[in-house]
Amino acid sequence: MTTTSPLTQDELKTLVGQAALQYVVPGEIVGVGTGSTVNKFIDALAGMKDQIKGAVSSSVASTERLKALGIEVFDANQVESLSVYIDGADEIDGTGNMIKGGGAALTREKIVAALARSFVCIADESKLVQALGQFPLPVEVIPMATHHVARRFEALGAKASVRLKDGAPLVTDNGQHILDVRGLSITDPLGFESDVNQWPGVVTVGVFAHQKASVCLLGTAQGVKTLRY
Ligand code: 5RP
Repeated sequence: MTTTSPLTQDELKTLVGQAALQYVVPGEIVGVGTGSTVNKFIDALAGMKDQIKGAVSSSVASTERLKALGIEVFDANQVESLSVYIDGADEIDGTGNMIKGGGAALTREKIVAALARSFVCIADESKLVQALGQFPLPVEVIPMATHHVARRFEALGAKASVRLKDGAPLVTDNGQHILDVRGLSITDPLGFESDVNQWPGVVTVGVFAHQKASVCLLGTAQGVKTLRY
């Protein structure tokens, strides 16, 4: 009898990163997200770099990786629309709503996602949840509003803390800070996103319901599952 050992999370990320290539449209510019799963996609994309025009990137980190592999990176203002945006998620629910921003790139991710006609989420199965909110919700804030925004979350029964890097507040690619919010129950992702987004000082809330996934390529022990929303 042969036994197969389960794939590691890293191997699942590689699988979905490679599977996402089927959504890349030859001759076009592809939207590229941020994170360890997307890094696998970028590495796979290098194999077809001569078939695409280039990429629009959602972070400095992804831009550097794309360029290092010889893929041209366009500014988001240079494109009117994209066929597809490919990115990971911290959580994805049964209808394609997501929490994103674990890599602090949520604002640019939402901008590039908004340019795209479809959002292909690539994730290992640990990211699939019944309801959003177990993962601390990232919220990008203008530093002078940090405490005000944190108090508003506390009024909802949650706890917000400033994300730190090397003992100091992490500074995003946009020069802002991140609040990580624990203890939320997000039962209405669309309404919650709309509501928090208009609090003064909030740059972007990490709920992606207005820009939810169209497709999720989910890495499982049985292989890549395609979930459509
Ligand atoms: C970055 C993100 C990422 O997509 C999210 O954090 C998932 O990352 P990973 O693929 O490393 O698990 O939103 O801001």
